[in-house]
Amino acid sequence: SGGSGEFLVGGDLLISGDLSGSGATSGASGSGGVPIELPLGSGGSGDQSGSGFSGDLLISGASGSSGVSGSDMPTCLLCTCLGGSVYCDDLKLDSVPPLPKDTTHFYARYNRITKINKSDFANMNKLKRIDLTANEIKSIDDRAFMGMPQLEELVIRENHISQLPALPETMSLIDASHNNIGTKGIHREAFKDMTSLLYLYLTDNNVDYIPVPLPDSLRSLHLQRNNIQMMHEDTFCNLKDFNYIRNALEDIRLDGNPINLSRTPQAYVCLPRIPIGDLI
Ligand SMILES: *[C@@H]1O[C@H](CO)[C@@H](O)[C@H](O)[C@H]1NC(C)=O
Ligand SMILES: *[C@@H]1O[C@H](CO)[C@@H](O)[C@H](O)[C@H]1NC(C)=O
Repeated sequence: SGGSGEFLVGGDLLISGDLSGSGATSGASGSGGVPIELPLGSGGSGDQSGSGFSGDLLISGASGSSGVSGSDMPTCLLCTCLGGSVYCDDLKLDSVPPLPKDTTHFYARYNRITKINKSDFANMNKLKRIDLTANEIKSIDDRAFMGMPQLEELVIRENHISQLPALPETMSLIDASHNNIGTKGIHREAFKDMTSLLYLYLTDNNVDYIPVPLPDSLRSLHLQRNNIQMMHEDTFCNLKDFNYIRNALEDIRLDGNPINLSRTPQAYVCLPRIPIGDLI
């Protein structure tokens, strides 16, 4: 019963391991060990031919039966679809490709995507993680990420966005570092209802205030190298309740901002650690 073995795809892409039961190999008709040729780079993706899979990409391991049924998806000829994950890194893409409905994790790092459309992730009910690191994204339709009931992690670092889009309350990680997010770039009370939010990274932007209120779940707040000049004594703590302790928030980075943390000595009494930043 075929499935395990090595598949040499298009000369460069070597997939080894047990792939039985995965939708990704349907069409391979289980002839174990026989090399399978896929028409990479042909059929409408002429822009990618010859440039996509440079070097060897080695994928090994077993993919579960809940894998992406990508056999009919042109995206899975161009990208690598495995066990719910779709990898489209470094393919010179200029837009988000159509994704298999079962996608849980989508990676499109190091491409040339300039815009995220509302339709790009429509009806993606299972998506948990989107990673668009190092593209050329300038604009995102504000509701583009709002139809995803399971979305937890969004990484859009190293792009050119000036506005952080609306995000669902299910978020646990938001990384929008190295962008152009400024004064009006964050919705009012954007993070308040994200009761599972753990990591909020906005390093190297132009943010000029701490985006309060922050949920109690938050562990890490990275705001280094922004333009924050002011903090209030109740930014993190509760001045009316001195028993209030914000245990989780142990990692606050404010270095590289024009702020003097010594001016608000009462602002840290509820925190397990004093923020990192200038105290002089
Ligand atoms: C994005 O949507 C606009 C219409 O809102 C459309 O004109 C454009 O072609 C779409 N871009 C992509 C890359 O799908
Ligand atoms: C920072 O604040 C402290 C306390 O108010 C003050 O003594 C110090 O001079 C300030 N430093 C600067 C550089 O303004």
